[in-house]
Amino acid sequence: MHDVKDRVAVVTGAASGIGRGIARAFAAKGCHVVVADVDAAGAEEIARELEGRGVRSLAVQCDVTEPAAVEALAERAWAAFGRVDVLCNNAGVGLTNLVAETSANDVQWIFTVNVFGMLHGCAAFVPRFRAAGGPAHILNTGSEHSLGVPFPGMGIYTASKHAVLGLSDVLRRELAGFDIGVSVLCPAVVRTEIWDAGRTRGARFGGPVHSPEVFRQFMESGMDPDEVGRIAIAGIERNDFLILTHPEVRAVADERARIVGEAFDRYFPR
Ligand SMILES: NC(=O)c1ccc[n+]([C@@H]2O[C@H](COP(=O)([O-])OP(=O)(O)OC[C@H]3O[C@@H](n4cnc5c(N)ncnc54)[C@H](O)[C@@H]3O)[C@@H](O)[C@H]2O)c1
Repeated sequence: MHDVKDRVAVVTGAASGIGRGIARAFAAKGCHVVVADVDAAGAEEIARELEGRGVRSLAVQCDVTEPAAVEALAERAWAAFGRVDVLCNNAGVGLTNLVAETSANDVQWIFTVNVFGMLHGCAAFVPRFRAAGGPAHILNTGSEHSLGVPFPGMGIYTASKHAVLGLSDVLRRELAGFDIGVSVLCPAVVRTEIWDAGRTRGARFGGPVHSPEVFRQFMESGMDPDEVGRIAIAGIERNDFLILTHPEVRAVADERARIVGEAFDRYFPR
């Protein structure tokens, strides 16, 4: 997708943070946006903001953990715009807990939003993209944790973001022949509300929970989410597989590669 101008993008988790930044960056480039979020009022507010910037925008309440809701999102988007060109599977949540002390509820919640949410998006949109004949693009929001940043306390989140990377890598190859690009956005710390992600946790995962304020202070040191959005759109237009925002993550990725290389050398000396 060389230019997103006059195209239509669907962004999940677009009422806040990185999703909102992506939605704003699409609008700034003249791309119409479906603002999808479990937070209906927040989605409506962003859709009105984007319309003020001169593009068409539709707010859709959508919980990505519900396959039927994601299917309905695709139907509403096509009904309103007659086309969709880009899907951004961005909605994501996290919390901090030691691996052995994480409750089943928390594991299920994180994986159902971060991994199944992305899969539900692909299941609803890929057949429609294929029927439309391309070009189309899927952006999945991974993380620096997709590339191997082993912070104690971030185990379940890290596992979910490794899954996003692995699934995207395979999906990109599966869809290459259909003119459907796939990218993974891998930011480090971004100034968003993810420190309090439990605020939207659904009843079937134990209901809302709130995190200590100290996490907000940490996140405030992060990158501006609108800047992340601009980088993401440029990466989509270049059809980059990995879209990177923070140069410091290179050291961690290099360390992962070094560990793998050393293991091969130990088992299979050259
Ligand atoms: N903030 C960071 O430092 C950072 C870094 C790397 C990756 N990420 C990833 O970026 C993505 C966006 O997170 P953010 O940091 O902007 O957080 P955020 O909390 O500011 O925004 C997340 C949005 O997703 C929505 N959401 C949550 N659960 C949902 C669900 N089940 N269905 C639909 N919408 C849902 C929330 O209502 C919210 O509007 C996530 O995938 C996150 O893992 C964040």
